[in-house]
Amino acid sequence: MAIVSIATALMLAACGGTGAGGGAATSASAGGSAAAGDTLVGVAMPTQTSERWIADGNAVKEGLEKAGYKVDLQYANDDIPTQTQQIDAMITAGAKLLIIAAIDGTALTSQLETAASKGIKVIAYDRLIRDSENVDFYVSFDNYKVGVAQATALLYGLGVTDRDGKATGTATKGQKIELFAGSLDDNNAHFFWNGAIDTLKPYITDGTLVVGSGQDTIEQAATLRWLQETAQKRMEDLLTSTYGGKGTGLKGVLSPYDGISRGIITALQGVGMGPSIKEGLPVVTGQDAEIASVKLIADGVQQSTIFKDTRKLAAQAVTAAQDFLSGKTPTPNNTTDYDNGKKVVPSFLLEVDTVYADTIQAMLIDSGYWTEDEVKSGVAK
Ligand code: BGC
Repeated sequence: MAIVSIATALMLAACGGTGAGGGAATSASAGGSAAAGDTLVGVAMPTQTSERWIADGNAVKEGLEKAGYKVDLQYANDDIPTQTQQIDAMITAGAKLLIIAAIDGTALTSQLETAASKGIKVIAYDRLIRDSENVDFYVSFDNYKVGVAQATALLYGLGVTDRDGKATGTATKGQKIELFAGSLDDNNAHFFWNGAIDTLKPYITDGTLVVGSGQDTIEQAATLRWLQETAQKRMEDLLTSTYGGKGTGLKGVLSPYDGISRGIITALQGVGMGPSIKEGLPVVTGQDAEIASVKLIADGVQQSTIFKDTRKLAAQAVTAAQDFLSGKTPTPNNTTDYDNGKKVVPSFLLEVDTVYADTIQAMLIDSGYWTEDEVKSGVAK
């Protein structure tokens, strides 16, 4: 069974669809032995303000529909009560399985209890759902490695290491950086942070890097709901409090997500830095390969982003759903790292890649994630 599941996953991944802006995750009804028929699957996504969740939602929906299931796909506008109501409604409508990317990973305990009492399986999508026994499977990326990759990109940009994280030994000492984290109610934010901090630590300890503001805890660095405006405001405040209002001496900013990166860049350019890295803009990292940020990377403004192929994640979620709905148990590739406070949730984690200006073509365009035109315009078509 395990072999069948892995083979299905690989096939689905290989069949990855047409693009980030709504490509299909799967090309066929693979592997599902039970008749899907009228079976309803509820898919709860957090927000449409970030492209990745739109792409995720579309790809999961198309994959499930191709496998013959009915799908109720909902977005919750980043509002917790909206998401809980949507999940309640899916349960009432008779959904047999739920795929959930939570807004607040700790807010769904009672919905999941109801689901369990009705025998509804729950797959946590990308973000782990915490404080509940009733999470049956988790599909995500290796979130700790995302943080390592972000920090490595920053170190590379500052001349401290090469792209693989090997120390150059020629780095300037005392380079000032600032740190941003994601939303504290998102389990992933903590994994990204830990991966990044573990990677930066040795260079902070030996004085190569200095967190100028001294704000070096995740609580100080956090960005509620991952909001661009919130990050921009914090960066503006840091520029005023620590960098003489002009950014003097600031060399790099660790950013965990492209929306946050764009907020940071707006603040930096707002005090006259840059406008490009060549012209002195600090190195700013990112995540998700959002098209607006990919354009900024192509233009030499944002330094990097982490590419998480949402087509592959969607395919993985579809495979796990098909397994559950045909009475099987999906095969995890990690059974140790994702403790949600009640149990270690069996997980399937995908790998990520770092995108720099010179790898946009190979990673994003050649793979069909974005077209050349989209990268040029910075707008998803
Ligand atoms: C996801 C990231 C995303 C962030 C903000 C996280 O849970 O893993 O890919 O950048 O949420 O939407």
